[in-house]
Amino acid sequence: MIVCVCNNISEGKIHQAVDAGMTSMAELRKQLGVGTCCGKCHSCAKNVLRECLSNT
Ligand code: FES
Repeated sequence: MIVCVCNNISEGKIHQAVDAGMTSMAELRKQLGVGTCCGKCHSCAKNVLRECLSNT
């Protein structure tokens, strides 16, 4: 599933980022660009991030 349409970032990409050690939206924004365009994906990305972190 695509989380951030503007930057074409999938749920899988966020999973990979968490596997690589990222733990916050700020890091995801900086590294992947999630939410840097329209910002509509912010809450969805946050949920995905939270889910990933609780699975690690
Ligand atoms: Fe992520 Fe627009 S959908 S910034």
